[in-house]
Amino acid sequence: MKLARLLAASAAVLTFAQPADAALTAVPSGVEAAQGALRIRVTALTDSILRVRVARESSFGEDASWAVPAAVRRQSVPVSPTADGFRTKAVIVHLDPDKLRLSVSDLSGRIIVADGAEPISVDGKAFMLRKVLPFDQHIFGMGDKTALLDRRGYTFTDWNTDFFGFTPASDPIYKSIPFYIGTSNDGASYGLFLDNSWRATFDFGHRDSNAIEISAPDGPIDYYLIAGPSVADVTRRYTDLTGKAPLAPQWALGYQQSRWGYSSDAEVRAIGQHLRSDRVPADVVWMDIDYQDRNRPFTVNTKVFPDMKKLNADMAADGFHLVAITDLHVAYLPNQGYAPYDTGMAGNHFVHKADGSVYVAPVWPGASVFPDFTRASTRAWWGNLYKDFIVDGFSGFWNDMNEPAVFETPDGSKTMPVTNIHRIESDDFATRDATHSEIHNVFGMQNTRGTFEGMARLRPNVRPFVMTRASYAGGQRYAATWTGDNSSTWDHLRLCVEQMINLGLSGFSYNGCDVGGFVGGASPELLTRWYELAAFSPVFRNHAANDAPHAEPWVDGPEHLAIRRKFIEERYRLLPYFYGLAEHNSRTGDPIMRPTFYDYPDALKLGCDQALAFTVGRNLLVAAPPRPESPQPFKICLPAGGWYDYWTGAPVAEHEFKQQPKLDFVPVFVRAGTILPKQALVQSTMRTPSGPLQVEVYPGDDCRGELYFDDGIHVNGPSLRQAITCTTTPKGLALHFGRREGSWRPWWKEIAVTVRGAKPVQITIGDQPGAADLVIAQ
Ligand code: NOJ
Repeated sequence: MKLARLLAASAAVLTFAQPADAALTAVPSGVEAAQGALRIRVTALTDSILRVRVARESSFGEDASWAVPAAVRRQSVPVSPTADGFRTKAVIVHLDPDKLRLSVSDLSGRIIVADGAEPISVDGKAFMLRKVLPFDQHIFGMGDKTALLDRRGYTFTDWNTDFFGFTPASDPIYKSIPFYIGTSNDGASYGLFLDNSWRATFDFGHRDSNAIEISAPDGPIDYYLIAGPSVADVTRRYTDLTGKAPLAPQWALGYQQSRWGYSSDAEVRAIGQHLRSDRVPADVVWMDIDYQDRNRPFTVNTKVFPDMKKLNADMAADGFHLVAITDLHVAYLPNQGYAPYDTGMAGNHFVHKADGSVYVAPVWPGASVFPDFTRASTRAWWGNLYKDFIVDGFSGFWNDMNEPAVFETPDGSKTMPVTNIHRIESDDFATRDATHSEIHNVFGMQNTRGTFEGMARLRPNVRPFVMTRASYAGGQRYAATWTGDNSSTWDHLRLCVEQMINLGLSGFSYNGCDVGGFVGGASPELLTRWYELAAFSPVFRNHAANDAPHAEPWVDGPEHLAIRRKFIEERYRLLPYFYGLAEHNSRTGDPIMRPTFYDYPDALKLGCDQALAFTVGRNLLVAAPPRPESPQPFKICLPAGGWYDYWTGAPVAEHEFKQQPKLDFVPVFVRAGTILPKQALVQSTMRTPSGPLQVEVYPGDDCRGELYFDDGIHVNGPSLRQAITCTTTPKGLALHFGRREGSWRPWWKEIAVTVRGAKPVQITIGDQPGAADLVIAQ
């Protein structure tokens, strides 16, 4: 903020003189212009993605990135020069060489994004960029930032921060994703990704209601403009740039039970047994720092966890995967036979202070040292630390505290000094030293990269699962994420939904919040409501602090347990749909959990933000009470098109109606035109569902669905993909099963088709429906 104000105040002084001969220069796939000491280059990576780089003192700096792989940065398309810039097949670029003012329009001439009056200000190494913020533009993305779903009117700083008990007004928190999507009421959208890992600030109409101001104290002026027109186009293209989240193991979509404080082998087993005896479907039990010897990463307290291999094996036999925390701070234990420290020192793998000595600071184990994850060799060493745990049979790992968090710091920053030195020996960066100011925001991401790649190396055919708290743009390639130490308040339930939606728009499709809240302890009603919503979110994990009351599904008695179980069960019935969405996400970048306007742009101007609404894929719309604690009726607005009630299967006649909140109920709707795959209830994804595959048909326009299955665990194993479509004919509903692709052998012998509508029909057909349409009379 301070910098923003400073730059704004000094902007007039920084206006550049206008030489008479200011002109544009054509460069391959783009254009360049110079003014004073500044040079701007705009190039087209694709027809809809532009890269903008600004050189100060003639050099653009090194062309390297933690977020955008080199092969992607090197893409280019032919462009056609115009009098004031160039055009691609999708956009027209206008660059005013006098002011270095850039605007981009679509082929009809409509402005997509335009620079403000002082487009670029520089002050030493600091800079500020200004874009126009049209009066009807909403802003989304920016990762896990708090505030509201729409970021307009707020200023955010990117500086990964361990923020225990953050509130909806706290900033910065754990992640830095310097990417936003601007979308107007008519749905026209663009994205901007600033690829700068320094402490960047984004002001979305806060200081000046007509401007977006983006500033950083240092680092490259290097950003990408992504044309839509839709939010979905922008989101997908952003993941074309920064990478897709690889398909997670299927168990990661099941229910996950965690708590800081499961402190013995017996307790972990007891949690698993309790879930099974209460018939609460579950796939994962998480192990927090309690399993370690004196909080030392990669150790086990064998007094309370005598045999990890047996624990993993026995839990697996009962349908559970175990995920273990492995924090990055390695205990500082010279000459004590602690291998992570000894091997790390031998390989010179720890971050240095400015004076060249190894940086030591307190975290969970006491004095700790910090791996220098920007070195490829350090990441490889780190990845190998997982060897024993992989042999023990752990399925996934949890990289916490990787902002990095430090408990006591002289300056109160709760992280390492910005003067610390990291060595960059990675990717296409020049081998060089960098201060922590530059590396801080990518530190957690490179931590997860080491973990992910280590797992992939140690267990080559199995999909790695890594959970991280801190990350940067592109971190979705390595890890799922959660929103850190939230609180058990109604405000946080709402905030959680909004954070998850924005994380999904920021590439992190696998995201979740601690169900029930980490800090404080939820009331029975809050915990139940949280279960209901989280059942429809990507990462469904209950977790709480060691000093918070227990928050497992059963803690509030049988009535609450019954409601929570009902929603967890529904999640398991919907797994074929969720898994299909996850696979689709790995190819396209379309998030699993989406804002309603993602597929229904009109939702932005329905003027009906009364419900806390989101969609799961395109076809399920969840509309929870906006103030989930309130008993007042709330309004639900459904986007244009037909809808069905998910719970009853009946068509919904109205598009706007009032709903009375009920504790055991969340309104969910299905798009008319959906073919929804479901399965019989299982207690774990490791169990084979019995009976047929269930296919629910909700007749309507654009009627289709897709089946995607594989074994849920392996990389590049056999899969099954099949499209199903339906059309309404005079004789009834014609259902068409497309050609089945892939060699995965399904568990079902039959398919049970239910056609929803005024007169529902149910039929069971063979496993391999022939090429001819199946006509179902209604
Ligand atoms: C902080 C994490 O945010 C929390 O989830 C975890 O339980 C504690 N660290 C202890 O490891």
